[in-house]
Amino acid sequence: MDTVARRPKKGEEVEALVDTIDRRGRALGEAEGHPISLTRGLPGDRVRARVTKRRRTGLQGVPLEVLEHGPSHVDARCAHAQSCGGCRFQDLAYGAQLELLRGHISQALEEACVPSPEVEPVIGCPVPWNYRNKMELSFGAIRWVEEDEPEGVERDFALGFHAPGRFDRVLDVSECHLLFEGGMELASSARDLAKELELTAWNQHTHEGCLRHLVLRRGVHTDETLAYVLTSRNGEDVDEFLDRFSALHPKLTTLVHGVNPGLADVATSSERRTITGPGWISERLRGIEFRISPESFFQTNTLQAERLFDIVIEEASAEGAGLVHDLYSGAGSISLLLAGAVEEVTGFELSTEAVADAKENALRNGIKNADFVAGDIAETIASVTERPDVLVCDPPRSGMHEKVVERLIELRPERIVHVSCNAQTAARDLARLVYNGYALIRARPVDLFPHTPHVECVFTLERRSV
Ligand SMILES: C[S@@+](CC[C@H](N)C(=O)[O-])C[C@H]1O[C@@H](n2cnc3c(N)ncnc32)[C@H](O)[C@@H]1O
Repeated sequence: MDTVARRPKKGEEVEALVDTIDRRGRALGEAEGHPISLTRGLPGDRVRARVTKRRRTGLQGVPLEVLEHGPSHVDARCAHAQSCGGCRFQDLAYGAQLELLRGHISQALEEACVPSPEVEPVIGCPVPWNYRNKMELSFGAIRWVEEDEPEGVERDFALGFHAPGRFDRVLDVSECHLLFEGGMELASSARDLAKELELTAWNQHTHEGCLRHLVLRRGVHTDETLAYVLTSRNGEDVDEFLDRFSALHPKLTTLVHGVNPGLADVATSSERRTITGPGWISERLRGIEFRISPESFFQTNTLQAERLFDIVIEEASAEGAGLVHDLYSGAGSISLLLAGAVEEVTGFELSTEAVADAKENALRNGIKNADFVAGDIAETIASVTERPDVLVCDPPRSGMHEKVVERLIELRPERIVHVSCNAQTAARDLARLVYNGYALIRARPVDLFPHTPHVECVFTLERRSV
């Protein structure tokens, strides 16, 4: 008779062997004959871990020490790697990251029962560092103190990123290898200046404090940089901070100030003013110039966005197509890149600011056959009566609203090009399309977010002739 392995209790230490990493970045493996899910770990790692939960389906735990690294381990580049979580995979060789991400997409399609051709290899980022053209940093009055920080370190001011799972604690970052080059110097100088002027940071518990967010954006092809400072209030001390900050950084092409007195921890403002420069930056993609406002969506990895859009255009096969709809169009990048190859393109987008940018971008580039509709797509799509030849959709991580998918099925475009950064919600939406007359003919992933569990994928669907 087989003996069942004793299940370790909560709090007990176990030895675990990591097999893989799931889509949320959790390490899955086995410990003393039981499945275990760990907060960190890489394939092939042998670790000592503490059990934090015991479920019927398996154990959950936190790793305490790596006893032996897996074959794809590399040294992490960042001093904050253990506490930050922003670059969850930075100690996994880049080639292994790409394989893992490809597996996540295949798995999501399989789980949603979407018949699919083999997912193509992920197109990697030629230089997988300093690729982010935008970063939102948070000011926080409760600093997340890292294990190796000296005793007595200042605890009531931080500028950086929220510690994983902590809405209230901010890790004070001195380096970030994802942010565009020069971005960290801007952040460090904002921190030093705030301290010199004795400006307080926002406290998530008491809802007091002045400084809330610092958003940095960069036009990679235009050499333009924007800083967007969000505070909870106006005041002479805020004005002094902004004036001195802009004087310290003559290369900053624009500085914008926003006030967010609300409780939600978001980098958006109810009141905004431009301190220096035009209030936005420009970026060029494949010959088209884009205006990017402080709060507009724009792909965060410029060079990989170009490769992603090349694939979207190729897959849309829009040359000679009449009508194309671009759902979730942001500041119009896909619409405007497609406009040269089609008769008419219409973008649909929720953010009025992004739509204003898209319209301005069409004007700037002399594009007359692109129009943009502002509003929640679940509502605005109802007004679409004419069937488009091609439909491109690039929804947020949560995927498409049910009403939108329903309307797509009714409109029956010949081809749908679905772009997604979340394989799970994409697979859910694709499943509905596939069971309503479409066939998934290609899945082409592009890595826009190296060292993270996120990956973009272009899924191409064709209407089956029935
Ligand atoms: C992943 S972005 C894609 C933007 C654009 N295709 C690009 O590549 O620059 C998703 C966009 O969907 C917009 N969005 C989110 N929810 C929406 C909704 N309910 N209706 C319309 N647009 C929405 C967001 O504002 C954002 O601009």
